[in-house]
Amino acid sequence: MRTELGTLVDVREPKDAEEPILGPAVRAAILGWLAEINAEAELAAVGVKPRSTALLSGPPGCGKTTLAHHLAARLGVPLVIVKAEMLVSSSLGGTGRKIADLFDGLAEVGVPCIVLMDEIDAIGGERSSDDQACAREMNAALTTLLQRIEAFGGRLIAATNRPASLDKALWRRFSLQIDVALPGEDERFAILKRYGQPFDFGDDAIEALTEITAGAAPSLLRQVMEGIKRTLILGSRLRLPADDPVAVLRLVAEGARPHPDYTPPPLWADLSLARVLEDTPWPPARIGG
Ligand SMILES: Nc1ncnc2c1ncn2[C@@H]1O[C@H](COP(=O)(O)OP(=O)(O)OP(=O)(O)O)[C@@H](O)[C@H]1O
Ligand SMILES: [Mg+2]
Repeated sequence: MRTELGTLVDVREPKDAEEPILGPAVRAAILGWLAEINAEAELAAVGVKPRSTALLSGPPGCGKTTLAHHLAARLGVPLVIVKAEMLVSSSLGGTGRKIADLFDGLAEVGVPCIVLMDEIDAIGGERSSDDQACAREMNAALTTLLQRIEAFGGRLIAATNRPASLDKALWRRFSLQIDVALPGEDERFAILKRYGQPFDFGDDAIEALTEITAGAAPSLLRQVMEGIKRTLILGSRLRLPADDPVAVLRLVAEGARPHPDYTPPPLWADLSLARVLEDTPWPPARIGG
């Protein structure tokens, strides 16, 4: 029996997209891609097509899924997210069949969309020469995936945070490779400021936070700013030290930590760095009253 497309994908509408804050190299790559997609006819006149596949790689929480959704929204189409792990089946030939059902289903959708194969390393890992049944099964599934991507007529983005583990033939199927890396200083400043809204923490405080969070992913920066806002609103109710910015930051950083496998950003290596907020006017004003 064929697996229904609805059980394999999750659809996100353009109106729900959020614009990620990205470094100059990623921004340039995205703008370039959008420009070629919008110049399809001019390119066809010289015998070239806009590229239709892209691979986004980078550490967790740096905005790969957010970026794919934003791109779809910029083109005014929904994003159809396939979690690669949903395609993995324990039955013999099951993974390959699900991949085939997925692409058959996508071919029947009939409206333009962007397909995101998220966490593609779950099925696109390096082929193995091992003759175990499990390895043979994954190799067969990968071959199906390669053929189906090759034959797919639509726009396809894949995302991974383990690019080195991807099969080389699969890698080659993506005509555009974009490295969504950890944010640099300017990007961290903008991310902290964005997620601090509607409070205005002041540029000095945001600058200090930018310094002590070097190496943090945007998702962690968001957690920190949202944690501060939660404490500001609920602090007195929960008897938290909401009146003291240093204590607030310390508390929030104790509660939201980077993964233990990563080198911790300065704040998490030494929580006493929360003192950089010592002279910050507190509580911060709310923008617009
Ligand atoms: N560059 C960014 N600018 C602003 N916000 C970001 C950025 N990157 C991530 N975020 C925020 O962090 C959260 C997680 O981001 P997202 O899911 O896009 O990361 P990811 O790279 O796909 O992670 P994973 O590898 O775990 O799938 C989102 O809520 C998003 O709002
Ligand atoms: Mg993701």
